[in-house]
Amino acid sequence: MISVCLLGASGSIGQQTIDVMLKNPHDFDLVSFSIGQRTRYVRGIIKRFPHISSICLQNKSSVNYYQKQYPSIHFYCGDEGLNELIRNSGAEMVVNALVGFVGLKPSITSLENDKILCLANKESLVVGGEIINHLLSKGKGKLYPIDSEHVAIAKCLAVDNQNVDKIIITASGGPFRNLSRDQLSDITPEQALAHPNWKMGKKITIDSATMVNKTFEIIEAHYLFGYGYQDIDVLINYNSFVHSIVRYNDGTYRADVGKPDMRVPIKYALYQGLTDYQTVVTDNLDSIKNTSFGEFDIKRFPIVNVAKKVIEEKGTLGAIFNASNEEAVRAFLNHEIPFLGIEKIINTCLSKQKSIKNPNYEDLKQVDLLTRSMVKEMIKKGEY
Ligand SMILES: NC(=O)c1ccc[n+]([C@@H]2O[C@H](COP(=O)([O-])OP(=O)(O)OC[C@H]3O[C@@H](n4cnc5c(N)ncnc54)[C@H](OP(=O)(O)O)[C@@H]3O)[C@@H](O)[C@H]2O)c1
Repeated sequence: MISVCLLGASGSIGQQTIDVMLKNPHDFDLVSFSIGQRTRYVRGIIKRFPHISSICLQNKSSVNYYQKQYPSIHFYCGDEGLNELIRNSGAEMVVNALVGFVGLKPSITSLENDKILCLANKESLVVGGEIINHLLSKGKGKLYPIDSEHVAIAKCLAVDNQNVDKIIITASGGPFRNLSRDQLSDITPEQALAHPNWKMGKKITIDSATMVNKTFEIIEAHYLFGYGYQDIDVLINYNSFVHSIVRYNDGTYRADVGKPDMRVPIKYALYQGLTDYQTVVTDNLDSIKNTSFGEFDIKRFPIVNVAKKVIEEKGTLGAIFNASNEEAVRAFLNHEIPFLGIEKIINTCLSKQKSIKNPNYEDLKQVDLLTRSMVKEMIKKGEY
């Protein structure tokens, strides 16, 4: 039985993590969790997990309210409360299912405190991949990704990591895979929120439509598995049945295949890679049943080129990329900017700011704040 702290319990990954833990009550004991604004989930989680001893909520008023209802539970508040929760709740494992930059510091705190970190918050690696890898190399903390593509790659490499030619990350192509670049300019938030294969939180759904998510995943794969940009390809897999592929020097492929269901990669991470699974080996990808592939067209989604820049130059580029994207996505969802404005804002921010080498967390936070105010200014001036 392993004790777990779940950050982002009200979200899409958070709720599916709860499903996995409820199905395996003898293996996981939820002792602490965090919620942002959707505090209506608090009561139900406490009811289902009797050993909850601490909770972090985003707002002081919610903390005051729930503290009165549950006097024996210790409540923490806000961004710093997330770190206190990790340090003080006694959980051996932290599942980080927060969305955005706010997830980075809790990932750092988890590894500094030698926790087993199951990481859905991909922004942690995009922004702070160097810090995370440094902490992993010098401490006792461990990291297991919660992303279907990276779990697929981890599974394939666990079976065979010799003579690897390429890591091939699959992409559904998002809801607009059949539209021309011109047609992309009129996309509304409502259209972008309708992903064909996955039901996810709003931000990652927009990131999937813009291909920022695939760009994030290439950067994530670089930090997780140590491959360079030139060793990582993207391939369209229309129904998301093939979660990712490793190609070997002898021309064979090993793939993780199955229905798209995030509970599978969540389970793999929670069991620290020790679940039963099978990979498919073939020398012809088209022979894999019930699925089909297409070339990824980088001309339609040139944002993916940003992965090369971030991987090769590092420093604070990931922080600029992430913060400009977070602010632009927020503005797009509020109907303040058009769909292609997201890409334009990211590129402008990356070209206007110089990267700082070997940043610490405080440097990254400064760059994050600066980039956000830059984006707000650009939107005010109509520069998108
Ligand atoms: N969903 C997927 O299928 C999927 C797949 C792979 C990777 N991921 C990654 O997993 C992460 C979570 O994605 P998601 O789809 O689960 O997102 P989501 O549904 O939007 O959930 C995000 C969670 O983070 C909390 N949160 C957001 N801002 C916060 C803040 N400032 N302080 C404290 N808590 C905050 C939210 O709380 P409230 O909602 O209560 O405010 C919610 O619990 C993302 O990094 C995403 O890229 C997701």
